[in-house]
Amino acid sequence: MIHETIVTTAACDGRPHIAPMGARYEDDFVILSPFRPSVTLDNIVASRAAVLNFTTDVRIFAGCVTHCASDWPTVAASRVASIRLAASLAHAELELDELRDDKERPVLRMKCVHRENHAPFTGFNRAQAAVVEGAILVSRLFMLPADKVDREMAYLQIAIDKTAGEVELTAWGWLTAAIARHRESLASSGGSAAELTAH
Ligand SMILES: Cc1cc2nc3c(=O)[nH]c(=O)nc-3n(C[C@H](O)[C@H](O)[C@H](O)COP(=O)(O)O)c2cc1C
Repeated sequence: MIHETIVTTAACDGRPHIAPMGARYEDDFVILSPFRPSVTLDNIVASRAAVLNFTTDVRIFAGCVTHCASDWPTVAASRVASIRLAASLAHAELELDELRDDKERPVLRMKCVHRENHAPFTGFNRAQAAVVEGAILVSRLFMLPADKVDREMAYLQIAIDKTAGEVELTAWGWLTAAIARHRESLASSGGSAAELTAH
């Protein structure tokens, strides 16, 4: 089972980095699999630490993958040499236990050394799930056919229209704008109509 989380890390100079990332759990260990190149990977290798943040604020997922908003407030982690989101429902602090290196997608096995709860989970929301799905599509625009992206966004739009609040609408707006920007840049770099539907 993969849980979609926000991973926060700190560079050697303390600069915070925030990235949506899937996490798997194996007992007290968390498995992360960042594709190279990855600032998250570089920061974890250098600091041997990271934090998994559990949040329903889907603007963070959409803001990071669209680069519309990636400087969310962070504070120092309690036990590890890293940072966490200032606002989350809960977080887990991780130390690097093992790096299984790979030229495309290394696997990081991280030991959970500390957990904190900050706020209650208030229930599932379909628009939040739609934004997370949309953010994954946006992070893969370079490899997905345009018609698949359009079909999936049209389906996800139903949950947005029926169940979104302000936060989800903001996040959804960033995603749709990012798709439009991607199409414009393909078109202006000479991408033909065929390429636009084939990429
Ligand atoms: C819900 C979600 C899950 C993601 N999971 C992963 C992941 O497991 N591995 C990965 O490399 N990128 C994942 N991404 C894409 C990264 O967030 C994005 O590529 C990011 O820039 C990672 O690179 P960085 O470490 O340099 O920030 C995910 C994106 C979303 C929206």
